[in-house]
Amino acid sequence: MPSVADPHVFEAEQMQLQKFRNYYPSLPVEPEASKDYFSKMRQIKLSMVRENYTGGTILDLCCGDGYFLKRASIFADRLIGVDFSREMLALANRGLDAENKVRVQCVQANARHIPLPSGSVHLAYCYSSLYAIPHVEDVLAECSRVLIPGGIAILDFGLQASLNTHVVKAYEEIADGYHRSRKDIRAMLKHTNFQLLSSRSFQILPLWGNKPAWLRPLLHPIWKKLMSLALGGKMLDEWISSAPLLNAIAFRRINVCRKIDAVLPPPISSNQPNG
Ligand SMILES: C[S@@+](CC[C@H](N)C(=O)[O-])C[C@H]1O[C@@H](n2cnc3c(N)ncnc32)[C@H](O)[C@@H]1O
Repeated sequence: MPSVADPHVFEAEQMQLQKFRNYYPSLPVEPEASKDYFSKMRQIKLSMVRENYTGGTILDLCCGDGYFLKRASIFADRLIGVDFSREMLALANRGLDAENKVRVQCVQANARHIPLPSGSVHLAYCYSSLYAIPHVEDVLAECSRVLIPGGIAILDFGLQASLNTHVVKAYEEIADGYHRSRKDIRAMLKHTNFQLLSSRSFQILPLWGNKPAWLRPLLHPIWKKLMSLALGGKMLDEWISSAPLLNAIAFRRINVCRKIDAVLPPPISSNQPNG
């Protein structure tokens, strides 16, 4: 396993930081009431935080412009947003009123070294970021460290075996994809003491971009409209992306996990045979 200080990881991360700084702060902001697919997706993500929050401190890992941080501050006692981009944090801080600034803190830091004490967070979530982080194992380990035993993590992964992986590769200017296999994700969660409670799948189709050319029929904007249709309380996209077999190639997988106590080795009994 590469070390946290691995120079290759560091170099890749610096490149990602540059891309996040250059590209994301300039993106247009969707109107709040938009029925656009990604606005609906944000509502789903926010509701997942709300449903799993039972009090205490929330950590918004890779908080970006603070979209979720600000909205979660309506129902949460204390929130900490962490992001390594100064530019994104400036956006996150904007619009926080004096009352909120007491309960909501924005901290500039790398998600692989979270500057919080162990066992100090009750719920952590990380949206739209884990699949852009080289050596994401370190982030999961940090997330697990700062959570209390029994604490909840909502982790948004990107599956490698998805069409979206091809679209991301076609765009130089956006952050590189570090998409992972389902097997890898399961192993990483186990290794970092997370028990999977539930999982939701989305984005069977990329739903953005117009490259590469061979994927164009499936990148037509009509798909985004169709996939955002609501059926029985879910978007059509979620129904299709969660279907057996198809869920193996749907890009976005949001896992709700519980941090379990480290499993201790069985006590050494004094009447066990030596050797
Ligand atoms: C696509 S944005 C998502 C922002 C927010 N979570 C959301 O869903 O709206 C990804 C964010 O992750 C941050 N980020 C990426 N890698 C990071 C790292 N290693 N440590 C801290 N922040 C990171 C970027 O600066 C950027 O703000």
